[in-house]
Amino acid sequence: MSTKLISGDHALSEFAKWLQSRSFSRIDILVDSHTEQACLRLLKDQLGWEAMPIVIPAGEASKNLEGLHKVWMALLAGASDRNSLLINLGGGMITDLGGMAASTFKRGIPFVQIPTSLLGQVDAAIGHKTGIDVGGVKNSVGTFSAPEELVIDPVFLETLPHEEYRSGMAEVFKHSLVQDKELWFKLNDYRLGMACSSEIIQQAADVKVRIVEEDPREQGQRKLLNFGHSLGHAVESEALAQGATIRHGEAVAAGMMMEAWISHQKGMLALEEWEQIRNRLVKVYPQLPDTILNGDRCVAFLKNDKKNLGDSIRMVLLNHIGEGVIDQVVSNELSRKALDAYPDFYMKTTD
Ligand SMILES: NC(=O)c1ccc[n+]([C@@H]2O[C@H](COP(=O)([O-])OP(=O)(O)OC[C@H]3O[C@@H](n4cnc5c(N)ncnc54)[C@H](O)[C@@H]3O)[C@@H](O)[C@H]2O)c1
Repeated sequence: MSTKLISGDHALSEFAKWLQSRSFSRIDILVDSHTEQACLRLLKDQLGWEAMPIVIPAGEASKNLEGLHKVWMALLAGASDRNSLLINLGGGMITDLGGMAASTFKRGIPFVQIPTSLLGQVDAAIGHKTGIDVGGVKNSVGTFSAPEELVIDPVFLETLPHEEYRSGMAEVFKHSLVQDKELWFKLNDYRLGMACSSEIIQQAADVKVRIVEEDPREQGQRKLLNFGHSLGHAVESEALAQGATIRHGEAVAAGMMMEAWISHQKGMLALEEWEQIRNRLVKVYPQLPDTILNGDRCVAFLKNDKKNLGDSIRMVLLNHIGEGVIDQVVSNELSRKALDAYPDFYMKTTD
């Protein structure tokens, strides 16, 4: 399953040309209530028509069976068939939900992913995973299904709220850390509140495209993309349990710092490289409250991780900036030390 990718500053107009070269019996556009306001006009202007969109309330709470049912019913009502197309225009919630709806409706109709959030453009819409949350468990039901096209146009990011942008940046940093040292250096000048160039977005997206093409089903190197996510998920789950809202990217950034620190403690990552990572990430991501970094509770969440080995866990660690390594065994004791060390990361920063 290779990714057919249209990207760059003119991606939307190239997509319009591609669409003209095809003859779909019907085209539907799925949006959420925010991307309906912020992104739909741009797309309609390029395509030159006024289709009525299928609109789902914005937010992760829509990525469930009820949301999926709503999309299926809209496709049924519009008499969509295997010759029709569904365009998913939104962040990762919409590309996951719409991809799942298209890959199951009438046993699969063609769809196109047009991610409009940074996280969607460099991560969620790439890699053919679709899905919904069932029983409160994220992405517990889904499919592997390839879109007809993946269209990455940075124009959409102009309306993305600042906090969402910063959240998506965590995945850009992650891609550079696990596989692209040159990208890490290009991010040297990145400052909070800045937008990245389309070249950087493309380069970050390419890391994921390359990795998933080599390992579509996550048997090996695709696991690299989990860097920062073991401790990141534990912190995110603890925040959720406390009713605190932190964005996924903030949790992943904290997870990356702790997992880079562990890499250094295990003698893999040099001190100078660990300090570079810490210094860069603490400037972009605010310190999370100590209450969320609770060692006992976060380690309890690690035990639910599918990579749990009893009193240790398999994680992605770093040998160098730009060189991640999968399946590294880390004891829960060392994870707990990383959680304890996290507040110090914000004390020791140097320019
Ligand atoms: N399939 C995968 O491989 C994969 C990988 C990573 C994440 N995900 C999924 O992606 C989702 C998170 O993605 P997300 O952060 O994009 O969430 P999201 O889709 O909920 O978008 C975040 C917010 O930004 C708004 N938004 C999006 N684009 C906008 C724009 N251009 N202008 C204004 N507002 C805009 C959305 O309406 C929403 O309020 C989660 O459901 C996660 O599970 C999937």
